[in-house]
Amino acid sequence: MSSLEFYENALPIAPVETERSCTMSTERPRLAVVGLGFIGLPLALCYALKGASVVGLDVEERVIGQINGGNTPLQESYAGEGIQDILRREIEAGRFFATSEYSRAAELVDSYMLTVGIPIDDGHPDTSHLEAACRSLGEVLKPGDLVLVRSTVIPGTTEGLIRRTLEDTSGLKCPGDFHLAYSSERIAEGRAFEEFIHMPLAVGGIDETSLQRAVQLLDFISESEIHTSDIQTVETAKVLENVQRDINIAISQEMATFTDALGIDTHRLIDIANTHRRVNLLRPGPGVGGYCLPNALHYLLPRARELGIDLPLARRARRTNEEVPERLCGVMGDMLSRRGRKLRGSRIALLGLAMKDYSSDDRHSPARRLAEQLSDRGAELRAYDPIVPDGHPYAVDDLDYCVTGSHGLILAARQECFDALNWSDVASRMADYPVIMDTRNCINEGDLPPDAALWRI
Ligand SMILES: NC(=O)c1ccc[n+]([C@@H]2O[C@H](COP(=O)([O-])OP(=O)(O)OC[C@H]3O[C@@H](n4cnc5c(N)ncnc54)[C@H](O)[C@@H]3O)[C@@H](O)[C@H]2O)c1
Repeated sequence: MSSLEFYENALPIAPVETERSCTMSTERPRLAVVGLGFIGLPLALCYALKGASVVGLDVEERVIGQINGGNTPLQESYAGEGIQDILRREIEAGRFFATSEYSRAAELVDSYMLTVGIPIDDGHPDTSHLEAACRSLGEVLKPGDLVLVRSTVIPGTTEGLIRRTLEDTSGLKCPGDFHLAYSSERIAEGRAFEEFIHMPLAVGGIDETSLQRAVQLLDFISESEIHTSDIQTVETAKVLENVQRDINIAISQEMATFTDALGIDTHRLIDIANTHRRVNLLRPGPGVGGYCLPNALHYLLPRARELGIDLPLARRARRTNEEVPERLCGVMGDMLSRRGRKLRGSRIALLGLAMKDYSSDDRHSPARRLAEQLSDRGAELRAYDPIVPDGHPYAVDDLDYCVTGSHGLILAARQECFDALNWSDVASRMADYPVIMDTRNCINEGDLPPDAALWRI
């Protein structure tokens, strides 16, 4: 596509109406979104469908080919339309395409949104991908460009590693030659488009011009408040938001062991406690997964160590959540032994491998940790998830095959096809006296035949 076509394909911008937007530019943005994963692709498409001209940048040629071919495994939708249809329409309309060539993007855009993350490897943050993206970006950065970081980072990364790498590779200075800002990405997978538009935002700029440029870019799709602060506060707030949820879930997980011994229903207990207007307990489950919550503590620890600070509560909560799959494995072993069986040698069906309900994302998934624990203890495991991509040695592609003849079943993540199941039918396909563990609060005692034992977290 030529530069001219790229500019002409953008939709005319809607008239400025809100008070907040009064000082905003009426130019439609021309931006590149760097990183086309769970955040980057829907973010890029959200800008495109609002009329911006967007280039998506990624290093994975396979991902680029798939996206330019109009395909994505992501489970998102907006206004009743699936992300795949949105992707195809925006490509067709010429408002979006993906490339691995930073130089190609640089000819077309003046703003970049960075969504390349910092994976955690065995508790250690790996900044190499983010650094590589900044080097590639620095090589093509032009005076006057804006770099708006959306990744979740170790506090201090934007003004440290990111600024340094961009300056070193571009030969430009910031502030002065280019603009740099940070705005945390707060959406939840599965609700991306709706939350890009309606979730309140926080943003910090390296100087006033950077902040204004960033607010203007965010404002193009946001219909919510945009709060401003210094960069390090916004970076740290994002990590704190995730740590708070991790701690909150750990309380519920711990309380679930208490209610189990007490013989009362954990979910009913939480329903009742949450009727208090200042209480908002989250739900226990098979553990805590995904890219955000399990990583959050590890973004704080490097800075905490430098500062000589300990974070014992956050560390304890992380351990509590990490230990849940092992605890569930123990519960399955106990329930089987009450029925005269050992976990070793028993056939276990695991339904759902995603890190949360209705997701195709299995990063840091507790279901995967559960699968590893069960296999390590000698269970014969078959796992089924209709939308998590293949690649696990224990995954099977047929629900019937997964369930038939199994001694135990664990529902670890909901998917639409599981919601339609008749649990009595499922239990009748299992071995005699089956054990069923529901970690998602959706199976009732009355749904099962009398010989089945049900355990719910
Ligand atoms: N997934 C979520 O629910 C969520 C929510 C809020 C914030 N975040 C944050 O957003 C960021 C992105 O998360 P994600 O889930 O989209 O990750 P992801 O792994 O799905 O996507 C990252 C993408 O960056 C690409 N990439 C790697 N190196 C690159 C480079 N040098 N140049 C260009 N692209 C490169 C990868 O190929 C990948 O497609 C992370 O910082 C994460 O913490 C994620």
